[in-house]
Amino acid sequence: MTVHDTIRAFALSRRALAMPASPIRKLAPLAEAARDRGTKVYHLNIGQPDIETPACMRDRLRLLEDRVLEYSPSTGTPEFVRSLQSYYTRRLGLDLAPHEILATTGGSEAILFAFMACANEGDDILVVEPFYANYNAFTTMAGLNVRPVTSRGRDGFHLPPREVWEQALTARTKAVVLCNPNNPTGTVYRRDELEEVADFCRDHGLFLISDEVYREFVYDGRKAISALELPDTADFVIVVDSLSKRYSACGIRLGALVTRNREIYDACLRMAQGRLSPPGIAQFIAVGAESLGDDYTRDVVTEYQRRRDVLFEGLTSIPGVFLQKPEGAFYCIARLPVSDAERFAAWLLSDFSHDGATVMIAPAAGFYASPLGTSEVRIAYVLKEEDLRRAIDILRVALLQF
Ligand SMILES: Cc1ncc(COP(=O)(O)O)c(C=O)c1O
Repeated sequence: MTVHDTIRAFALSRRALAMPASPIRKLAPLAEAARDRGTKVYHLNIGQPDIETPACMRDRLRLLEDRVLEYSPSTGTPEFVRSLQSYYTRRLGLDLAPHEILATTGGSEAILFAFMACANEGDDILVVEPFYANYNAFTTMAGLNVRPVTSRGRDGFHLPPREVWEQALTARTKAVVLCNPNNPTGTVYRRDELEEVADFCRDHGLFLISDEVYREFVYDGRKAISALELPDTADFVIVVDSLSKRYSACGIRLGALVTRNREIYDACLRMAQGRLSPPGIAQFIAVGAESLGDDYTRDVVTEYQRRRDVLFEGLTSIPGVFLQKPEGAFYCIARLPVSDAERFAAWLLSDFSHDGATVMIAPAAGFYASPLGTSEVRIAYVLKEEDLRRAIDILRVALLQF
């Protein structure tokens, strides 16, 4: 028998097999089939804002004279990093050096870099659930275990007290992940609760990875406090940032990893060198945002707050629906009067329509690591007011028929 006769199995890696499908996109084929049947589908399932990307960014494309679209530096272009530097000074009053800001391909890459820099395969990270479901994808890629720390609807999904964190700790815990303002709950953490988690991290030598991609989106006069603003945290805070939501520019694929820990920055830069560079054209476009005044953010936030109010009033007027008034971001977790929200979400797309339309919602179970959330859905309020009202009416009729 020669080596050529050996039967070889083309087996996928454990990691590949374990990679979870996004609960946000899982129902997409059913939505496509509904559209093919001529049913209009209102998307409450995904955080793709419908607000125009500012013209001062879009217009930059016309100024591009490069005849070769080159790699940019792995760190990000000096112009883009400088524009981020002045953004942090303006928005947060922080003086950050260029070597504390690493440009990334979306906040997504910053999350992956942070996970890989903080923990070894088989290590644990503590994540507040319900959480942004794609953290599961990044922990799977990095070979990490998610240990959930549960936040509860009855507490407005605010952070649990220190005892709960202590109980979740293992000998292999390396980092805590917070998302503030929160996707999927819409909660904005107060300074005291952030400081309590920072103290916990400091006491146990854990990194604090703070995902702040919704920093701008806070309502009723709130302010999102960045982990970078917390005292005595320079050694262990890593902030994930993104231009996707801030400028309604999800397709630009630009973000940043921000840390004052030089070793973490250098490790992430070496990963960044491995992937060569973040998108150069995108960085050229992004610096256009420098000419935006504070009124841009104010107007966008006013629009989202109006949508939040429409959603909250509409949903709470449906019998059996329970939700907290979102404080920030553009999502909420709503408990519905159904025992299996995943079956309801699928039914909405495959078996139901009202005046030729239906809605797509994200079952919330996929946002938990514990077996929770089976009656809950995550709703994104990224539609204009009129569409949002219509979507809520459809949901009201559907819940009566299910
Ligand atoms: C909480 C959170 N973090 C990170 C991201 C990733 O954003 P980006 O488009 O910058 O990769 C998202 C995108 O929806 C998000 O909701």
